[in-house]
Amino acid sequence: MVSSPVCGSLYENSVRAKSVVRNRLSACFAVAANVNRPVEISIRGASKSFSTQSGERVTVFTDLSFDVYRGEFLALVGPSGCGKSTLLNAICGEVDLDGGSIMVESNGNKGQRRSISVVWQEDALMPWKTAMANVEFPMIARGVDVEKRRETASKWLKTVGLDGFLHSYPLELSQGMRKRVGIAAALAPHPRILLLDEPFSALDLYTKLEIENELLSLWAEAKITVVMVTHDVHEAVGLADRIIVLTSRPATLRAVHLNPLPRPRNLRSLYGEPQFHDQVRQVWALMK
Ligand SMILES: Nc1ncnc2c1ncn2[C@@H]1O[C@H](COP(=O)(O)OP(=O)(O)O)[C@@H](O)[C@H]1O
Ligand SMILES: [Mg+2]
Repeated sequence: MVSSPVCGSLYENSVRAKSVVRNRLSACFAVAANVNRPVEISIRGASKSFSTQSGERVTVFTDLSFDVYRGEFLALVGPSGCGKSTLLNAICGEVDLDGGSIMVESNGNKGQRRSISVVWQEDALMPWKTAMANVEFPMIARGVDVEKRRETASKWLKTVGLDGFLHSYPLELSQGMRKRVGIAAALAPHPRILLLDEPFSALDLYTKLEIENELLSLWAEAKITVVMVTHDVHEAVGLADRIIVLTSRPATLRAVHLNPLPRPRNLRSLYGEPQFHDQVRQVWALMK
């Protein structure tokens, strides 16, 4: 069937109108669902641009405002290049905004880094240090004494299933094992906030599912706030309480989707549930 341009635009307008209403409703529900939780990160009118080599100014995101609630698992999805990594860098204080503000509760803008750990897409392990030494490293900057560091590092490596690999070097470990070391290193200093930038995108599906399930248990146990950037809608729906959908660059907030799937979640069984696929469809619709 060939639709006329008029039909097409009427149809698109009605879809857009429905989507705006749905977004507003989901944002309201999101606020309602989190009404008893304190705000952990508050982003208000955040804007960022970069200068290119040719002297042009590229706006990455503009006028972004949303809150992250204490203890929630928030996913941030949006097209490649829309500024998701830049936003994470701004949250952990590595990138200065051009306008607006990002406040991390009870830290002000100073000292943000002490309460935040990050797991990046690429391995950030030091190849010349053992798994133990890699996990100990972030605790040195936080002034943890050597005995406590060793005890904590070995506990976390055991927690992520690397009991027999404490003294292995990154080159001796598989990609999934290295990712586990990265997670142990991020969680060992007891951060309040964990930022994840597409950390599992390079893993095979089986390993990814295993590590994601482990991450869910660790998050529930440690009661930390997680902000995870991902382009994988299945991952966002499987893991997160709320999903922030960004537009393409310059990114603005397109939608806040409240994910009603109950917890605790086991991703293996969740992936077989019709409600899961319904949520995935809803988030995909928001991204169009
Ligand atoms: N340090 C930088 N200098 C110049 N441009 C940058 C810098 N960091 C990111 N960018 C640009 O900002 C845009 C958003 O990048 P990024 O945050 O990595 O996007 P995403 O993580 O959503 O894929 C891209 O166009 C990228 O080239
Ligand atoms: Mg990125």
